[in-house]
Amino acid sequence: MQPIIKENPVILGIESSCDETAAAVIRGRKLLSDEIISSASVQAIYGGVVPEIASRAHTDAVDTVVQRALDRAGVKKEELDAVAVTYGAGLLGALLVGLSFAKGLSYGLNIPLIGVNHIRGHLSAAYLEDEGLKPPFMTLLASGGHTAIIHTKTEMQFEVLGGTLDDAAGEAFDKVARVLSLPYPGGPHVETLAKEGKNVVPLPKMLKGEGGYNFSYSGLKTAVINYCHSKKQKGEEVNRADVAHSFQRAALDILVEKVVQAAKERAVDTVTAGGGVIANGYLREALQTACKKAGLKLVLPSKKHCTDNAAMIAAEGLVQYQAGNFASLSLNAQASIPLR
Ligand code: KG4
Ligand code: ZN
Repeated sequence: MQPIIKENPVILGIESSCDETAAAVIRGRKLLSDEIISSASVQAIYGGVVPEIASRAHTDAVDTVVQRALDRAGVKKEELDAVAVTYGAGLLGALLVGLSFAKGLSYGLNIPLIGVNHIRGHLSAAYLEDEGLKPPFMTLLASGGHTAIIHTKTEMQFEVLGGTLDDAAGEAFDKVARVLSLPYPGGPHVETLAKEGKNVVPLPKMLKGEGGYNFSYSGLKTAVINYCHSKKQKGEEVNRADVAHSFQRAALDILVEKVVQAAKERAVDTVTAGGGVIANGYLREALQTACKKAGLKLVLPSKKHCTDNAAMIAAEGLVQYQAGNFASLSLNAQASIPLR
C-alpha cells in the first residue's frame, strides 16, 4: 500500500556509514533534533577507521542515539511518518547496523523506509541551512571519499560535471596529516597547523583549465611526501606549519575556482557545498569571497552538517519521500554507489 504523502512529514534520519552513529528528526525542513555518538577517538588510536570496531560501536550506540533524537525533538516514535537511513556508500558492517535498526522501526511502526545515498545526503545538507533553497544550484562536494562538482537541476535530477581522478580532497588531507604526524582525522588538524604557517613550500599546480571540472590530488600528495623526505635526508628541519599551509591552499583554491566557473558557465546563480572538507574555515572564507565577487548566492551548511550527520540524511529522506521513493525491507547495504 502506497502511504499518503504529507506536506510536512516527521522523518527520522539514521546514519552509520563510517565512525559516526547519528540520528535526527525533522518536520518538513525544520530540524527538531540532531544527535551523534562518534567512535573517532577510539579509531584515532589506530590512525584510521577499523571497520570491525566501527560496527561494534554502532551496535552499542544506535538505540541510545535514536532515543535521544526522539526525546530532544519531543516526538514519540508513533508520530514518525517515515524513517530514512543511509544504505551506502560506506563500510558494509557499519551500514548494516543502521539499516537493520531502521527496518525494524519501519516494520514495527508500519511506516515507509527510505534508503538514502550518503553522498546525496551531503548535497541535501544545504536544504537545512536555507529552508527556501530550490534547484537549480551548483554544488561543491568534498568529503573523505568524493570530490566533485554537481549541477542539481531539480530535486531528483542532477549531473556530475567532474570529479576526482584519484584521491578525494579529504583523503589527501588525511594522508598529508600522517606525513606531518598529525592524528586522525587529519583535516581539522592540518587546518589548525596551517594557521601558523606561510605559503612558501613549492608544490605543483593542480589540474586547472585542462582538467575541465576534474581534480587530481595524487600529484600534490606525492609532492608533499617528497618534499618532507628530501628535507629529512638533507638533515634540514621541516617547517610543518608551512607545509600544512601551502598544501591547504593548493588543495582548496582549485575547488573554489572550479565551482564558481561551473556556476557561471551553466548560468546557475546559487552555489552550495557539502562534505567534511567544507568544514574547513579557509575554504569557507574563500568560497564566500569568490561567490560574492562573482555575484553568486552561497548556501553553506553549518560545519556540523558538513561532516557526517543524520540531519542531512533526514533532509535527503524528505526529498525522496516527496517523490514517493520508498524502499522495501529487502534493501541491502552497498559499499559503493557510483556518482552519476
Ligand atoms: O563527509 P565526511 O565527514 O565523511 C565522508 O563521507 O567521507 O568527510 C570526512 C573527511 C575526512 O577526510 C576529514 O579529514 C575531512 O573530511 N575534513 C576536513 C576538515 N574536517 C573534516 N578537511 C579539511 N579541513 C577540515 N576542517
Ligand atoms: Zn560523509
